[in-house]
Amino acid sequence: MASGRLAVVATAVLIGTIGACGSASQGESGSTTVVADGSMPDDGVAARHAGRAGAAGIGDPDFPNDGNGGYDVGHYRLKIDYDPERKYLSGVAGIQAKATQNLSRFDLDLSGFTVGKVTVNGAPARFSRSGDELVVTPPRMIPDRSAFTVEVTYAGEPKPVRNSPNLGTYGFIPTSDGAFVACEPNGARTWFPGNDHPADKARYDFEITVPEGVTALANGEQVGSPVTSDGKTTYNWRESHPMASYLATVTMGRFELREGRTALGTKNVAAVDPRYSGSLNRLYNQSAKITDYWSKVFGPYPFSSTGGVIDDFPAGYALENQTKPMYGGFNPGDDVIAHELAHQWFGDSMSIRRWRDLWLNEGFATYAEWLWSEHKGNASAERIFRNRYAVDSGAAIWKYAPGRAKPDDLFNDSVYTRGAMTLHALRQRIGDPAFFRVLKTWNAEHKYGYVTTPEFVALSERISGKQLDDLFDAWLFTPRKPTTW
Ligand code: TRP
Ligand code: ZN
Repeated sequence: MASGRLAVVATAVLIGTIGACGSASQGESGSTTVVADGSMPDDGVAARHAGRAGAAGIGDPDFPNDGNGGYDVGHYRLKIDYDPERKYLSGVAGIQAKATQNLSRFDLDLSGFTVGKVTVNGAPARFSRSGDELVVTPPRMIPDRSAFTVEVTYAGEPKPVRNSPNLGTYGFIPTSDGAFVACEPNGARTWFPGNDHPADKARYDFEITVPEGVTALANGEQVGSPVTSDGKTTYNWRESHPMASYLATVTMGRFELREGRTALGTKNVAAVDPRYSGSLNRLYNQSAKITDYWSKVFGPYPFSSTGGVIDDFPAGYALENQTKPMYGGFNPGDDVIAHELAHQWFGDSMSIRRWRDLWLNEGFATYAEWLWSEHKGNASAERIFRNRYAVDSGAAIWKYAPGRAKPDDLFNDSVYTRGAMTLHALRQRIGDPAFFRVLKTWNAEHKYGYVTTPEFVALSERISGKQLDDLFDAWLFTPRKPTTW
């Protein structure tokens, strides 16, 4: 408790410092540029020297240091060499980005490791470390809107984020035979340098080298066959659709695989740790059926393949890693498979711009569990809603307004359950045809994009032709048990 409060104070101080830095360098950029040879700067020289530092955060007020300002990443090429026995990772991260301001310097998010070298557009760049910020000063100012490349060479023992009070352990988690890599909300920095916030999605290529006999699973599709030499195997994977950093994975270990296609033709890959051999076919079959059902209810499957991974790390949770939901140390039932696969539409294809809107991921994925139950002829969504609504008006879920997820309690049950109840309240108010049209249109209009809560409210009003402020206010934004739907 005490250390948690201390951490909050430290963060506040840090923000103050960074804010001051930012404005100082902004001031500098407005003043006369001193040129090395002492001559008066002409415009060309001034342009080369001006520019200001990119912000230390992408602008999410609840997570002020997550992500970074001043650029937008388009592509990551991650070369990861991991030795499970020594728990040692050596990496080279190649980043293609575009400046969104004149950049004198910029940050990448990276936690731990020793950084050996950073280049920008092929030229060595100066760098320093400050908390989870890798601060890079390129030899030349990067002009607004120009494309640039960064390469970071780094190595060390990956350290996951451990026992965070409300988030548990996440990030790159070493296991006896490899690693379990599940990074929500900001654990991507525990294994690669980047813009670690869902408001900057990018495409990814992975080149993963592991000891022979270990399988490496990443997002998207395998490119070519694994190549083995000198007792090491290299796997290439590619995610060719935009992906949030927290959905990236390079899960490694011993796995049994089953590959094929769903009835509707989507590629399907299931992988299980040998401890879960008995679940391979079930995971494969249920993932296929559920993916096909969601593609009818929510719109076409947005990615190149579906499936899932069961690893033996006893996380007790699952994560909707893009194309490869991961289940940590348990046999997933239909509920959780339906949940993680619904996230491929809600959370993965469409990403939240700020964490406070998390109900747009978790409320929808939880409601999807209810829809699957209803579809299977088990409890209807209405029945589940009534059940949850019956909870005493003094219960915690009514005190937490799910439309504004709190950074110190992001994954509160209210964000999941009351978020799902919000959708059911909406369904009751506008009727099934309009409700299911809202779900499909929401997906179609924001495929591979970014979303916020006000946009969802506006769409619901547009499609239903109804004024819905009272409903969303009561369900999402009031710390009291709602009485209307
Ligand atoms: N998004 C996950 C789910 O509900 C839960 C989750 C939150 C998580 N934080 C995590 C999973 C960190 C893994 C790691 O489906
Ligand atoms: Zn979820």
